[in-house]
Amino acid sequence: MADGSSETKSSNQMWGGRFASGPDAIMEEINASIGFDKKLYAQDIRGSIAHATMLAHQGIISAEDKDKIVHGLDTILSEIDSGAFEFSRRLEDIHMNIEARLAALIGPAAGRLHTARSRNDQVALDFRLWVKEELQMTEKALTGLIAAFLDRAEEHAETVMPGFTHLQTAQPVTFGHHCMAYVEMFGRDRARVRHAIEHMDESPIGAAALAGTGFPIDRHMTAKALGFREPTRNSIDTVSDRDFALEFLSIAAIAATHLSRLAEEIVIWSTPQFGFIRLSDAFSTGSSIMPQKKNPDAAELVRAKTGRVNGSLVALLTVMKGLPLAYSKDMQEDKEQVFDAAESLELAIAAMTGMIRDVTIRADRMKAAAGSGYSTATDLADWLVREAGLPFRDAHHVTGRVVALAEQKGCDLADLPLAELQAINSAITDKVYGVLTVEASVASRTSFGGTAPSEVRKQIAWWRARN
Ligand code: ARG
Repeated sequence: MADGSSETKSSNQMWGGRFASGPDAIMEEINASIGFDKKLYAQDIRGSIAHATMLAHQGIISAEDKDKIVHGLDTILSEIDSGAFEFSRRLEDIHMNIEARLAALIGPAAGRLHTARSRNDQVALDFRLWVKEELQMTEKALTGLIAAFLDRAEEHAETVMPGFTHLQTAQPVTFGHHCMAYVEMFGRDRARVRHAIEHMDESPIGAAALAGTGFPIDRHMTAKALGFREPTRNSIDTVSDRDFALEFLSIAAIAATHLSRLAEEIVIWSTPQFGFIRLSDAFSTGSSIMPQKKNPDAAELVRAKTGRVNGSLVALLTVMKGLPLAYSKDMQEDKEQVFDAAESLELAIAAMTGMIRDVTIRADRMKAAAGSGYSTATDLADWLVREAGLPFRDAHHVTGRVVALAEQKGCDLADLPLAELQAINSAITDKVYGVLTVEASVASRTSFGGTAPSEVRKQIAWWRARN
């Protein structure tokens, strides 16, 4: 950073009493976090205003000093908002950048703000506020994605497609049902987000360096002012805890994994070979050499972002795993991981929501594929159990022979003549043809959570009431 080298090596104004000289340039470079923690400026200022207000209320600082501090902090907020604020790497992090500016603006009263506080509880507060807001945004974004899926599911409650296991055609399902599988996944992600918000809704400020303080502070007052349910209960844990960041990253990693699976399906489905969907121009790109191509770049990038998010989770877990209580500077490495994961996740959810809303569903192609690969073989076996009284294992065997026959003749199950079916098992009647179509197969699966359009519509209604 340019500002580091031009400044003289004077000792630090925050702890200069103990130091004869300032840090080496390399020390400054490895130590500074301002390059990324400036993102926390609004939270830092909000926290400081709540802290100063509480100090005055408790008679720890005067009302005049508090007013000067609050006014100064408001000024700094607008300076940073407007881009006029000059961040300095020599001042290490966002906390000291703001405090130094406050001193320049209001003089000695600024020095009273840090009473009964440490950067350890200050950074825990700022970062927690930031993560909490990010989780609230994630909750909204997931709700938007779920809404997009509910609309597509409703539209395609009857659209038949092949259901897969091992990516081999298994049984016919509806596209609406497939969409609702993703609603369940993103619904769980959202529930995890809500739980995490509740979990981390405790205010760290007032834990001070690690042991609390002898000043008569009121932690319930600051907790309330900052929108937390209550203060944290153990000051040592408070300054050494980054579970809220780890929870955010775990939730992000699981959600990103869901997005990646969806992205993978979009990539496969949009190939000419599958041709189940056509991506909108808005969410695809062309090739500079092959004029016929339409590439699913957005889906591919969503798939790739998952690697970054998972990496961030592993990185922070690894940073934290060896740390003795309480605060260690290692913990400064928490923020970039969370910021990067948050940006990736936000973008991935937004891109997916757009793709799902815009994508063209090629129902004809889905239906044709749904009937291939003897996908109604289970329906034949079930029919033999129901109508001919065969035990399922025998029905399975009979059906296997029917499939082998169809394969040998190169036709579908429904194209086999009745006489040839009866030669395999005499209990088969012409009623069997009623269950061999993909529509009949899908309509029959009315068990709770099954693929029948009637059942899928029930699940859509359940989710609509909760979205
Ligand atoms: N920049 C630091 C961080 O992000 C703030 C806390 C520093 N505390 C300390 N005792 N050095 O973790």
